[in-house]
Amino acid sequence: MFTIHWDQITPEIFIKNYWQKRPILIKGGFAEFQDPISAEELAGLAMEEAVESRIVTNQDRWHVTHGPFESFESLGESHSTLLVQAVDHWHPEVSDMLVPFQLLPNWRVDDVMISYSTPQGGVGPHIDQYDVFIIQGQGSRRWRVGEVDTDLEQHCPHPSLQQVQPFEAKIDDVLEPGDILYIPPFCPHEGYAIEPSLNYSIGFRAPNQREMFSAFADHLIDLDMGDARFKDKFDEIQTNPGHFEPKHIEQIRNMMKQLLDDDALFHQWLGSFLSEAKHELDLEAAEPKYTLTEIIETIQSTPLRRLGGVRTFYITEPHCIQWFVNQTCVQLHPDNLAAVQTVTGRQRISASHVEALEADESFWNALTQLINQGYWYFEDLDE
Ligand code: SIN
Ligand code: CO
Repeated sequence: MFTIHWDQITPEIFIKNYWQKRPILIKGGFAEFQDPISAEELAGLAMEEAVESRIVTNQDRWHVTHGPFESFESLGESHSTLLVQAVDHWHPEVSDMLVPFQLLPNWRVDDVMISYSTPQGGVGPHIDQYDVFIIQGQGSRRWRVGEVDTDLEQHCPHPSLQQVQPFEAKIDDVLEPGDILYIPPFCPHEGYAIEPSLNYSIGFRAPNQREMFSAFADHLIDLDMGDARFKDKFDEIQTNPGHFEPKHIEQIRNMMKQLLDDDALFHQWLGSFLSEAKHELDLEAAEPKYTLTEIIETIQSTPLRRLGGVRTFYITEPHCIQWFVNQTCVQLHPDNLAAVQTVTGRQRISASHVEALEADESFWNALTQLINQGYWYFEDLDE
């Protein structure tokens, strides 16, 4: 299991002073770090159709090729990086790397991207719009990171590569296995391998307003809602019909806000929107299907594991709990809170957690269905 050794700070200080604000290097953050995946296994994943991958080379000029790859000729002895997205979806040991980052809520987590770079390989100076923890695995890589700067101009040395101009570094260090580098959004950074390197990027997701409004509108269309029409409250004759009066503008705005202020509607949309997996899941329905009794029996002796990449969390409502799993919502009685906290708060549930799963039949029915759909699986039996 992975545990962070916070070095000079504590998780509380990290959240208060660094998260979203300034970069920090946590030397030896993962003590005696062992790579959960090899470069060969990573290359194997990059050959799969369902996995998003690319190779960036910077020998004389920047060049990008997109996977799936049939061979790795373009991955040179030097100046090359293979990047594979959402490896946690396909590799349980890699998804375990997310556990120590649960000081942040599940709905903020994105995926684990892994890169393998040969000496001098990197993707160049760039900014990301998302928080990221970069963990050094095998090898060593020099990383430079600047302060947050939202005014940096971007350019594309290749159509698939966005970079920024040279920047002043606040952190300039050679990362060794187990070092953790936290980079907030809009901090310019660049890393170049010194020795062949594996780097793990724990990424976080932050939807923008445009994405949210567009998804909310889609949700209204799906539910056939939001068809109330504007009704005016005009009580006097307009002396200046060309004027769109502030009070009328407010009436329109309020009419739109009504939908956002509808808790039931908004929570439903939010839960469904944020529990959607952004990359393909390695979903396999249980065969044969489990009965509820079999699940209750098996869980006493066999760990139950959440499938890598499945987003799950709950929202508490006045009279129920809404438990979201990959865009599905399960409504449960509040008595099931401890059980829902356990299944959403842990990647793996073993016999020692079963007591916390004391819940009514509706919870067990829902869990049975989710296991049969493949969102959770019994580790020993299915591996
Ligand atoms: C890399 O591992 O080369 C890229 C990681 C990043 O800069 O976000
Ligand atoms: Co980056």
